[in-house]
Amino acid sequence: MPLLKDLNTENITENTILTNSSCEDLRMKYLMERLVSHLHDFARETRLSTREWMSGIQFLTVVGQTCDEVRQEFILLSDILGLSLLIDAIDHPKPPHATEGTVLGPFHTHEAEEMSHGDKMSSDPDGEPLLVLCTLKDSAGRPIEGCKIDIWETDSTGRYDVQHADRKGPDGRCVMYSDKDGIFWFKAIKPISYPIPHDGPVGKLLKALRRHPYRPSHMHFMFEKPGYDNLITALYARGDPYETSDAVFGVKDSLVVDYTQTDREIAEKYDVEEGTLLMTYDFVLVSDEEASDLREQKSRKALEALGRKVKFLEGLPVPDVD
Ligand SMILES: [Fe+2]
Repeated sequence: MPLLKDLNTENITENTILTNSSCEDLRMKYLMERLVSHLHDFARETRLSTREWMSGIQFLTVVGQTCDEVRQEFILLSDILGLSLLIDAIDHPKPPHATEGTVLGPFHTHEAEEMSHGDKMSSDPDGEPLLVLCTLKDSAGRPIEGCKIDIWETDSTGRYDVQHADRKGPDGRCVMYSDKDGIFWFKAIKPISYPIPHDGPVGKLLKALRRHPYRPSHMHFMFEKPGYDNLITALYARGDPYETSDAVFGVKDSLVVDYTQTDREIAEKYDVEEGTLLMTYDFVLVSDEEASDLREQKSRKALEALGRKVKFLEGLPVPDVD
């Protein structure tokens, strides 16, 4: 039994972990063990004061109170701390040939309308038209048919539909499916760089850290098809002033694209005006198997570095104590 008396800075961690150790869910038990260990180390290493601890509690309280149906301040906090990008990289590891993932961000919704290839996903009359032509393949270069693709972008003012108080329904977002050749295409508008919501506690934190809240111009994509590892990613416009200082650390070189202009042939084929901005990209999804093999390899390494043997429960590592 753990010692629950006379606890001090030296023995409280070990005993808190012991108290939690009857948990039957081995993954939860491991998560709690590491969480307690790192939280306690944080307090010991920083010599955290009671006043600072209370400020932290109050800050997190306001973060929670700022969340509502369309605003997710906790995701924003995770984003600006670099945690969202880190978790995506851990949970969706990619071999070198695959399309890299990036942050989901706080503006994805589940109510986008299904559209057909060639449809317009934005009703904003002030947006600069952008033709988007894409392919979707597997690691062996075979087209992936029937993949659900969720796409969302800002309007011409750099805001998502959910940021407008008078919003009537989804706009600047759609769901479509790749065809038998792995092709999908649509008409959008040029996305605009924008500040993440910074009128709440996360904005105050950024200000205190002397960081700006801007994200470079980008379009979000999410791919889902049984048998393939879900891919959440985005394409960024090269040359954006915030290309190398994204507030949420989402930019990767492989996801930065150059817009070109449609020539007459492309314009006629896709029914747009000649000279319309054009964005093309060839996405590559990894299979569930490829992703779980990679995840397992990397998990094994991470636990071995802690001096622990590893076993897997539903694909997630726990220490092997047998
Ligand atoms: Fe975004």
